[in-house]
Order: sequence, then structure tokens, then C-alpha cells
Amino acid sequence: METKILKPNQLDQAAQALAQGQLVAFPTETVYGLGADATNVAACQKVYAAKGRPSDNPLIVHVSSPQMVWQYAQGPVAAAEQLMQKYWPGPLTIILPVRPGCLSTTVTGGLKTAAFRMPDNATTLALIDCLQKPLVGPSANTSGKPSPTMALHVKHDLNGRIAAIIDDGPTKVGLESTVLDLTVTPPTILRPGALTLQELEKVIGTVQSDHHQVQAGEIPKAPGMKYKHYAPQAQVIIVDHPQDFPAAVKWVQQQEMPFALLAEDEVLKVLDLTAAQATFSLGDSLTSASHLLFAGLRKFDLDPQIKYILAQGEPDQGLGSAYMNRLNKSAGNQHFNHLEAN
Ligand code: TXA
Ligand code: MG
Repeated sequence: METKILKPNQLDQAAQALAQGQLVAFPTETVYGLGADATNVAACQKVYAAKGRPSDNPLIVHVSSPQMVWQYAQGPVAAAEQLMQKYWPGPLTIILPVRPGCLSTTVTGGLKTAAFRMPDNATTLALIDCLQKPLVGPSANTSGKPSPTMALHVKHDLNGRIAAIIDDGPTKVGLESTVLDLTVTPPTILRPGALTLQELEKVIGTVQSDHHQVQAGEIPKAPGMKYKHYAPQAQVIIVDHPQDFPAAVKWVQQQEMPFALLAEDEVLKVLDLTAAQATFSLGDSLTSASHLLFAGLRKFDLDPQIKYILAQGEPDQGLGSAYMNRLNKSAGNQHFNHLEAN
């Protein structure tokens, strides 16, 4: 099967393919999703096969309105509605108890809860309205690879395995949505994203965060958190303070292996870039770094010679928590200042 690249004005073709049980990658404000009709079990099964995703890792159900959620989920209605009114469409995924029998175990991974999100992308909202069904949508990457922030990334991973990709340009945020479990007290963030704990607390009061690295033998609250993620073939080493970059470069040169630099312009402009095999700019802010992180990791993955990636860390708060969560996973928590201490 040849994967078609569709423009946002070719929605009817995308809707038709989805209605026939085929897979179509769709744009969101966070990352591209791998879409299937959430009410079609066979289509949802194809999502796992195309991604190479373990079957116990449940899928997010993408809706075009809060009302659509209540066909499939039940309370806590008040807290959920308040959050949806304030932050939807947007980068917030809400876990709710499923109405018994309303979603297949293929979608829920056998859990009694499911994840719901209304993405902030006009094309995708129109697509869901056209289909009149919600879309399941894990990130449209091969399992273990960084999530796709451009249609090209989706094509690289899934060409020939899905019917079409709707290309709506690079995504705005670049990191996946905040996943909030509303079935527990207090509500708990299972995956940090662009929407911060503080913003959630403004609406529903105390929220806790539980996205520690899952240990061997532990049952994770979000099944996806136990899998290795975002890991390029090279070893990523996080440089937490910009002023440590010269020392980090010196250290990596002593290893006598080709390395790459992933940092903001301010950092890159004071380094001798000729020493590096490759460089990728994260722009000039935390926002641009979040937007570009996955694209940078993917770029370096195309060059098998690169053995180390020195990547800029960011302060672990607000959007920085989401950025550091992804970067720590890609680095297996390897930081330059830990190496130095050893
Ligand atoms: O920004 C996003 O959320 C993107 C775009 C496409 O919407 N989607 C995305 O989906 O990142 P995915 O499948 O890559 O990540 C969903 C995460 C996984 O860690 C999964 O385990 C967790 O949400 N999850 C889904 N349903 C859950 C449930 N019922 N309980 C706990 N965790 C759940
Ligand atoms: Mg994913």
C-alpha cells in the first residue's frame, strides 16, 4: 500500500479511508497522531501492528467536543467539564472511567478507564466531525522512536503501512499532551506536557505528579511509561548548565568518537562547532527547544556514525518539566555532571 500525503483540504479522502477501517495520520498541536475509527476494533488492532506497539498500552481517544466524551465515559463529570471548558481544545488528556461495554479492550488495553483529548487543530476537529466517530491516536511513530512533529517523520516511520498522512506543517508544541488521571484523589499527572500542574490546580485544586521512572517489576499507572522511549542510537548526555558545555565538549573529544551538539543558539555560538560531527539548533527559548527536540533527535539518528549527543538541559519546571521528562528518557538519565562526579 502506498501512503498518500494529503493536504488539509482533502479531508473527505481521509474520512473515507477511516470509515473503511484504514489508518490515517493526523496533525495535532502537540505531535502527529496515528488515527483509526475508535469504534472499529479491527482498525484499532491495525494501529498496534503498524507501530509495533505492545497491546497492553492503551490508546488516547480523540474527540471534537466534550459531549462526545460522555458517550463513552462517566464521572467525575464536574471536574472534567471544568477542565474541558478551560483547556480544550488543547494539550490535555483526561483519564476517566469507561462506561461499561462502550469501548473495546483494544482501545483501553483492558483497563476500566480510558484517555480522552480534544486536540487544538482545526483540520483534525473537522475530520472527527466528518467521521462522526472519535479517533484513537497514539503518536504516529514506530514504538520507541521520538514522536513525529512533522509529516516527514511519520512518512519515515510508517510509509507503506498506513493509507494516508494529512500534512498540516510542523506541530506547534512539539511534546505530547499532559496526561491527567481524574479517577484518583488527588488527580494525578501521569505524563507532564505543555499544560502545567499549576494551570490544572487553578481549575480543580490540588493535583499531584507521578511520572517517576518505572522500576523493574513495578506496575506503572500509565502503561506507556514503562517502555523505552525517544532513544536515538547514539548515547545522549544532558548538559544541565550552559556554562558546562565547553567542558562537556572537551570530555567527549577525549572519547575519540564522533559526537553531535543539540543546544540553543546562545550555547552554540560560543562553541567550536568544527569539532562536532553535526549540530542542531534548539532556537532561542524553552518553547522553541520543546518544539524542536524530537526533530533534532531524529536528525542525528539518520547518521549512524554519531556515538554521543550532548544535549542542553532546561530548568525542571513548567514546560521545562515536560522537556526534561522526554530528554531524560532519551538519555537514560545520563547527565554530564554525574559523569564528572564519577
Ligand atoms: O499529545 C498526545 O497526547 C499525542 C497526540 C497524537 O494526541 N498522543 C500520544 O499518544 O502521545 P500515546 O499513545 O503515544 O501516549 C498515550 C499515553 C501512554 O503513555 C498511555 O500508556 C497513556 O497515555 N494512557 C492511555 N490510556 C490510559 C489509561 N486509561 N490509563 C493510564 N494511562 C493511559
Ligand atoms: Mg507515543
